[in-house]
Amino acid sequence: MSIPRIIFVAYIFSLSEITLGSQLVTYIFGDSLTDVGNNNFLQYSLAKSNYPWYGIDYSGGQATGRFTNGRTIGDIISSKLGIPSPPAYLSVSQNVDALLKGVNYASGGAGILNDTGLYFIQRLTFDDQINSFKKTKEAITTELGEAAAYKHFNEAMYFIGIGSNDYVNNFLQPFLADGQQYTPDEFVELLISTLDQQLKRLYQLGAQKMVFHGVGPLGCIPSQRVKSKKGQCLKQVNEWIQQFNSKVQKLIKTLNQGLPNAKLIFADTYPLVLDLIDNPSTYGFKVSNTSCCNVDTSIGGLCLPNSKLCKNRNEYVFWDAFHPSDAANVILAEKFFSSLFSSAPSAAPSPSP
Ligand SMILES: *[C@@H]1O[C@H](CO)[C@@H](O)[C@H](O)[C@H]1NC(C)=O
Ligand SMILES: *[C@@H]1O[C@H](CO)[C@@H](O)[C@H](O)[C@H]1NC(C)=O
Repeated sequence: MSIPRIIFVAYIFSLSEITLGSQLVTYIFGDSLTDVGNNNFLQYSLAKSNYPWYGIDYSGGQATGRFTNGRTIGDIISSKLGIPSPPAYLSVSQNVDALLKGVNYASGGAGILNDTGLYFIQRLTFDDQINSFKKTKEAITTELGEAAAYKHFNEAMYFIGIGSNDYVNNFLQPFLADGQQYTPDEFVELLISTLDQQLKRLYQLGAQKMVFHGVGPLGCIPSQRVKSKKGQCLKQVNEWIQQFNSKVQKLIKTLNQGLPNAKLIFADTYPLVLDLIDNPSTYGFKVSNTSCCNVDTSIGGLCLPNSKLCKNRNEYVFWDAFHPSDAANVILAEKFFSSLFSSAPSAAPSPSP
């Protein structure tokens, strides 16, 4: 039996074992696709979604800081794992009991790079999120002691979804420096070398089981389509994203080989999202090329406060110009689970010679 298979089976085993014992603790890092309210605690942040219509299909029907009409993909994955969706870190940062059950550091507008999303004034960059995780670790270590805290963090699962904003709210913005300073090849190298350091830092803080969600086909999101002549996908943007994803995949392979006990997995969401966009009717959707609400394309592509909504929100893949609808997130979470299990072996290290 090859080593990849053993590691793969070991990973699945621990996941199902933990799920059955309902002890699974998850820590979530990311951007607006997974933010569950952190940005509402940032007084001056312009990347906020506590506006009318956001949350209309969430329990309670009110905005919660989620950038969609209902649940994020993270909410749905959590419920599939049989655990509550971890709360926003900034809502519980002083509460050790809550931190012990897992928290969500994701922040709308965040990227791998510090200057991504600069014009949102405030957001927690991936580095900020890792710093918050370090504080979490210190608080939990004080509470549990070194050995138990070490075990706690080694057994937890880490979901990371970041990189979209480094393109949409950085490289692809003509008025920001990075798009002028770097060629696409240089930019992707900068992202990968930065991510390399960030994932190693997370590992050094105790994270071993990490799932990295690849970036979706950003050339096909409504805010990018409007830049084309006939509302079609931007091929060039999609090519850059695929290049980023394949380099992350390679990075993860290298990290798995170099870091003892590391079990990083790359979840390739790109083909899943593209299939949903290309074949909406297969999944019960009618529209995948435009958003359900009327959007303000100048800032962030969010729904306008006085927006008219589409009639049937379950027929739209996109809620606003960036973010999938609740109905799309349900499909994506389901597909994520099957891809997680089928893509794991290739992400595991190959046997050493
Ligand atoms: C972001 O800024 C902090 C503080 O200046 C610095 O320590 C860190 O290396 C920077 N990270 C990136 C990704 O540039
Ligand atoms: C979306 O696709 C439909 C059907 O192909 C087309 O009629 C419509 O014009 C497109 N909308 C946009 C905004 O591109």
